Amino acid sequence: MTDWPNLHVSQHPAVRHKLGILRDANTEPKKFREVVRELSWLLGYEALADAHTRPIDVPTPLEVMQGEELADRIGFVPILRAGLGMVDAFLELMPTAQVWHLGLFRDERTLRPVEYYNKLPNSATVDLSLILDPMLATGGSATAAIEVLKRWGAVRIKLVNLIAAPEGVAAVSKAHPDVEIYCAALDRQLNEKGYIMPGLGDAGDRQFGTGGAS
Ligand code: PRP
Ligand code: URA
Repeated sequence: MTDWPNLHVSQHPAVRHKLGILRDANTEPKKFREVVRELSWLLGYEALADAHTRPIDVPTPLEVMQGEELADRIGFVPILRAGLGMVDAFLELMPTAQVWHLGLFRDERTLRPVEYYNKLPNSATVDLSLILDPMLATGGSATAAIEVLKRWGAVRIKLVNLIAAPEGVAAVSKAHPDVEIYCAALDRQLNEKGYIMPGLGDAGDRQFGTGGAS
């Protein structure tokens, strides 16, 4: 149990096992990307469990039965660059979803998010939006992304992270208590550089081989 009713930390043993591989500083980018994808599948399964369906007739070889099809129009919003590694798994889960890319990076000095790319259409076209980003640290990037989506007209927003810091969960929950947060782990704290401890280092660098873990 945590202080945040909107926070869902996965308890699945497969998630806990894969997280250990992801955190390990010896895990190479290729393996790291594979595990990001696998964890995204597992978290997506949990985060999308309340998506709405509608009844349809399904002709089995023996008779027509009442089956279901997805009714919600779903949008995935990966935060560049680290969120890119989560997209394929989410699209495998929900192949008809739309994907809008949002580019945000953290200014290393102020830790504030800077928006540099936005591929959202003019107005909201979905019932449910999922923001995808492996790391929730100060919460600045997630809060900025939620604000962009709300201005755009999104009504139901969920945030999916692999690892969250309490500071980030508190910031998002305070500003946007209506946003449900799904993550694989809630870590201890941020360090003085805004990195999640124990965390996994820089999720973008570790996926794309652009630097060492911090
Ligand atoms: C990382 C991460 C989040 C952000 C989290 O991105 O993917 O977007 O930091 O930090 P916050 O909660 O303090 O805002 P980064 O800025 O390193 O960009 P990158 O994905 O391009 O490496
Ligand atoms: N972004 C990352 O990639 N890692 C952290 O620990 C914090 C922000």
